[in-house]
Amino acid sequence: MQLGTLLLRHLLISSVVTLALPAAPCTNDEDCSLNGLCHPRSQTCHCDPGWTGPSCSALDLSPATRGTGYNHTTYTDPTYYKSYGNSSWGGQIVQDRHNKKLFHLLVDQFSHGCGLGGWRPTSFVARAESTKGPQGPYEWVEGVTGSFRHNAYVHWSPADQAYLLWTIGVDVPPDAIGSCKSVSKDAWPNNISVAAAPEITGPWTRFHVAVNGTNPAPWPLLSTASKKIALAAEDFKIYTADRWDSNEYQLVHAAPPWNTSDYAPTWTEDPFLWRDKRGNWHALAHWMIDIVESKNRTKKYPRVGTHMFARSLEGPWKFTQQEAFSSVVAFTDGSVETFNRRERPKLFFSDDDGEVTPLYLVTGVQPLGTSSLSYTLIQPIGQAWRKFEEELGWV
Ligand SMILES: *[C@@H]1O[C@H](CO)[C@@H](O)[C@H](O)[C@H]1NC(C)=O
Ligand SMILES: *[C@@H]1O[C@H](CO)[C@@H](O)[C@H](O)[C@H]1NC(C)=O
Ligand SMILES: *[C@@H]1O[C@H](CO)[C@@H](O)[C@H](O)[C@H]1NC(C)=O
Ligand SMILES: *[C@@H]1O[C@H](CO)[C@@H](O)[C@H](O)[C@H]1NC(C)=O
Ligand SMILES: *[C@@H]1O[C@H](CO)[C@@H](O)[C@H](O)[C@H]1NC(C)=O
Ligand SMILES: *[C@@H]1O[C@H](CO)[C@@H](O)[C@H](O)[C@H]1NC(C)=O
Repeated sequence: MQLGTLLLRHLLISSVVTLALPAAPCTNDEDCSLNGLCHPRSQTCHCDPGWTGPSCSALDLSPATRGTGYNHTTYTDPTYYKSYGNSSWGGQIVQDRHNKKLFHLLVDQFSHGCGLGGWRPTSFVARAESTKGPQGPYEWVEGVTGSFRHNAYVHWSPADQAYLLWTIGVDVPPDAIGSCKSVSKDAWPNNISVAAAPEITGPWTRFHVAVNGTNPAPWPLLSTASKKIALAAEDFKIYTADRWDSNEYQLVHAAPPWNTSDYAPTWTEDPFLWRDKRGNWHALAHWMIDIVESKNRTKKYPRVGTHMFARSLEGPWKFTQQEAFSSVVAFTDGSVETFNRRERPKLFFSDDDGEVTPLYLVTGVQPLGTSSLSYTLIQPIGQAWRKFEEELGWV
């Protein structure tokens, strides 16, 4: 073929490809994952800030900055059993109520240098602080709980005038941890529990067991008048209660319409639940599709995150099996890193403007080629985080 013909062919192919790229036209807002509106004339999705893709199903992630988050895997101590430092596995950002320029991270850390492999028994909840902005770096301040406590969520409840701290786990004596060796779930159950404190610095009440399950995702329907709690748990069991310390958490959604079995293409764990500005419900979750599709069933990356949505808490919930985020992270220094694992998605939202715009994604990450070593990565979303940081005096 002559060069001209080749070029013409190439142009034709690329224009066909470009024209083919936009997804099927939307007909309703569900086609836009309820993360945006379907524009009736153009039949295309107009995504809310923080969301992107033809069906608004993906987080619009901005580059992360190396040296931020909570990354203390190199710390050592003579009392440590192993060499994974202060490995951690995700956490939740809290803006201080009294000092808007102070940020806390309630982070799931592993004690004794045990790392992720020793998560039960050694996980506990630590509080770290950043005076350098919401992305951190966060520095260790204190242990909030002993072991075994994991998967911390914290919400301020105006009606209770208290912070509510949700975790899984049980209280065991400190000397119960004599090694990093795994402890069975039967011995130390994951029971979903909640404690309260007047300040983020404590003092915390004893943990109250709320639900017999694992991986809580509370989204309190709190206001100055309401103490109501919505709580999702593993496999999309969803509960409500009149108040955090209720003994009667009511199951309002028993199972989603998709197959939650291990190794099904719809296999997920670790939901993160929230309600958007229109009153619709959403969840992010760890999606294990690469484990399902890899021949040896051990490959955990790069597809790790997905999104589900519903008009009401009771469902029907919809799962379109699209990628919301991956384990490939771009950094501001121009580097791109693919992580072996990236799990435990938790969002931090703007809360003053009622827009519920996601500003940061917090996840646990494990670098490729490592075992047990892990840390907590914070990645900004879209553009709204810039304004948020500018108004606080950073950037
Ligand atoms: C985390 O810390 C390790 C060890 O200091 C470093 O190599 C790595 O680049 C850090 N990651 C990020 C995202 O800052
Ligand atoms: C690591 O965690 C221990 C508590 O387990 C704490 O005393 C120490 O200050 C932490 N160090 C860093 C660098 O995070
Ligand atoms: C804690 O979990 C275990 C195992 O699932 C269960 O048998 C037990 O009843 C739970 N405890 C409470 C107080 O719910
Ligand atoms: C708690 O849940 C586990 C797992 O679903 C179940 O085996 C156990 O019987 C439950 N225990 C109670 C007290 O409900
Ligand atoms: C759910 O997925 C599992 C694992 O792939 C499979 O064995 C089972 O048949 C599926 N169940 C249904 C109802 O499709
Ligand atoms: C499993 O297969 C993937 C490719 O699908 C490969 O990258 C990985 O190294 C394999 N893991 C093991 C333990 O064989």
